[in-house]
Amino acid sequence: MKVGDHHYQTVWMEGATVRMIHQNELPWHFRIHDCNRFNDSCDAISNMVVRGAGAIGATAGFAMAQAFLEAPSDGREDFLYQAKKMIESTRPTARNLFYAVEKVFHAGQESIESAVNEAQAIAAKDADDSRKIGYFGNKLFGRKMRILTHCNAGWLAFVDYGTALSPIYVAHQQGKEVMVYAGETRPRGQGARLTAWELQNEQIPHLVIPDTAVASLMAAGKVDLVITGADRIALNGDVANKIGTLDRAILAKHFKVPFYVAAPTSTIDPVCRNGNAIVIEHRSQDEVLFQEGPDAEGNIHKIRVVSPGSDAWNPAFDVTPSKLITGLITEKGIISAHHQSIKALLNQSN
Ligand code: MRU
Repeated sequence: MKVGDHHYQTVWMEGATVRMIHQNELPWHFRIHDCNRFNDSCDAISNMVVRGAGAIGATAGFAMAQAFLEAPSDGREDFLYQAKKMIESTRPTARNLFYAVEKVFHAGQESIESAVNEAQAIAAKDADDSRKIGYFGNKLFGRKMRILTHCNAGWLAFVDYGTALSPIYVAHQQGKEVMVYAGETRPRGQGARLTAWELQNEQIPHLVIPDTAVASLMAAGKVDLVITGADRIALNGDVANKIGTLDRAILAKHFKVPFYVAAPTSTIDPVCRNGNAIVIEHRSQDEVLFQEGPDAEGNIHKIRVVSPGSDAWNPAFDVTPSKLITGLITEKGIISAHHQSIKALLNQSN
């Protein structure tokens, strides 16, 4: 996507350096963060400098390739095994991370060059899948659509284009009248900070809504379609996504609004039978206790917004059961969130 006159991807690898848009500084500063070694890339994933399933997956694949470039000849196998474990421990829920690490680790058994090529191919495919999701998702759009989304599943969450936002970009380019409601997504504010920034950048009409306003918005008849992303999809169609997705799915059912999940096939976990088997990340309570923003000089500060002495509970994801999902928008087409359709999708060649 373009920022100013320049086309950017969210994350890419140049030589042995992994470069990424620093998402913790958006929307206030646009800066590129460089990771020169594999453990810098691990830190960037854990600290959410890069976030969103596809972008995490691409970064993890690059980190594994960096590990191959760094591995000493003495104790090489042990180094690579430890590196793989370390990358896999950065964040537990997004399936794309494990998918990418496994593929690059496997390719690296042939040569270092194969590891790097595989990591580049995973990133390129992520962007291409997202572009195709935009094409298929746009088929759900009439000439005039009001869409509710959650968190950020735009191009910042992938290598390019995004998933939930990709059909919105296509519809807008085709001249359809699109209005997007972006849930702010506490505690980290991916909707308020990142989705809003992306939509503004593309000049797409949007409003940020408090997470608590979804029922009222739907009750007022202002939502035609809900589209969210996914971090992991089980074989039975249950979907793990940003905390608060389940609330929206329940409300969409109640108000009879179609609820779609947009994700590439790489987000489907072929060994996960249902949502109960998905590991949900719990993050630091500080994300709830503190909020951040810039001062007049643009320096970002945190301030406490919760009563002193109170603690917080901070699960980062929830699981939406397949029965609440109208369909999955994938790079191969739109399918129902059912075991048979998912199995058929996984069996399709690329
Ligand atoms: O914790 P994040 O920001 O990495 O989580 C990303 C999400 O869960 C989003 O909900 C998004 O919709 C899915 S992006 C693959």
